[in-house]
Amino acid sequence: MLAGKRIVLGVTGGIAAYKAVEVCRRMVDAGAHVVPVMTKGAEHFVGRTTLSALASEPVQTSLWDEASPIPHTRLGQTADLIVVAPATARLLAAYAAGLSTDLLTNTLLATRAPVVVCPAMHTEMWEHPAVQANIATLRARGVHIVDPESGRLAGGDVGHGRLAAPERIVAAVEGVLASVADMDGWHVVVSAGGTREPIDAVRVIANRSSGKQGYAVAAEAAARGARVTLVSTVDLQAPAGCTVVPVETAAQMQAALESVAPGADVVVMSAAVADFRPVAAAPGKIKKHEGVPQIVLEPTPDILAGLGARKPAGQVLVGFAAETDDLLANAAGKLQRKRLDLIVANDVGAPGVGFQHDTNAVTLLRADASGAAVVAATVALTDKRSIAKAVLDAVVDIRRGLTPPA
Ligand code: C5P
Repeated sequence: MLAGKRIVLGVTGGIAAYKAVEVCRRMVDAGAHVVPVMTKGAEHFVGRTTLSALASEPVQTSLWDEASPIPHTRLGQTADLIVVAPATARLLAAYAAGLSTDLLTNTLLATRAPVVVCPAMHTEMWEHPAVQANIATLRARGVHIVDPESGRLAGGDVGHGRLAAPERIVAAVEGVLASVADMDGWHVVVSAGGTREPIDAVRVIANRSSGKQGYAVAAEAAARGARVTLVSTVDLQAPAGCTVVPVETAAQMQAALESVAPGADVVVMSAAVADFRPVAAAPGKIKKHEGVPQIVLEPTPDILAGLGARKPAGQVLVGFAAETDDLLANAAGKLQRKRLDLIVANDVGAPGVGFQHDTNAVTLLRADASGAAVVAATVALTDKRSIAKAVLDAVVDIRRGLTPPA
């Protein structure tokens, strides 16, 4: 996995910096081209000469010590992956805030490559809400965090916060490199947000969907090499590399999906589509003084069931089931009725789960050879990007014909 890969190894100023030497050596031995970048603080803990001797290039520390006029973008742009080990609380804060104070933070901001961050600090610092908030922010942006371990810390203390073992760090780097391009060349269609069905010229029937989960799926698919079409009802910042098709109503979403879905490798239907709409929207604004209006509703088309009925061979079709009762039974029923390959079941009654939250907790059900629903994975409460990753891991397994772990 590492052979021929250009890896920027960021080292920040913690006692665990000495372990970065071992991380560097292992990656070079595995065939990677390792470019070491140290912060000023790191130089207090590990010799520049040591790291330069073991890496593929001399250590760089400053924005200004290169002949090239734009070194701060060059390192990030040319990296296949950036790993920061150890990452101090300061580095996490600067990275989460988008603050570029030195060569390493500049490089982290000027890259589209995957980033692996390996925090190490005293237990009190690691558990501080500010540090945990920065970790959550970075995770939600798709940064891979290698959690610290428990053990001896600097100054004889014992607790949580010790840098992960070098072999764990290198395994994480290999895992990320293996997964990042696993949707290369695929066309992935994602729907996101809640539909709005007009009652009159100003009023709509809407729902609480924020679109955040769909956008996280789109961003994760793009990061894994897919060409992504995002059919969206919301005006969130589009993930890099995604083509957005803006829609508002179920009918517009159906038209957009029916035009792009037939050629897609994967369709992820994360939008919350209205089940009913007014038969006719009043052309102007309904006047209050005219009394309580009678709004007659009709069912909307089930877009997903239509896509399932006409699914091309080899396409993976994913639906969502937002439920408040009998979660798995209801989700399994939808999986079968709508002819899906995978359904993401979320208990929207549980705290922190589903609509509008930044977090979610899901069970993934997929169809086995006989069409029966089996649990492919359960993901406890986490950020929506991590949920997106689990969903796409299952999609990749389905495309490869792999069965879920027993
Ligand atoms: O049956 P239910 O509406 O609960 O199923 C949810 C799944 O079906 C979601 O993936 C949603 O996007 C999709 N859906 C649809 N068209 C509808 C209603 C739901 O595609 N009219």
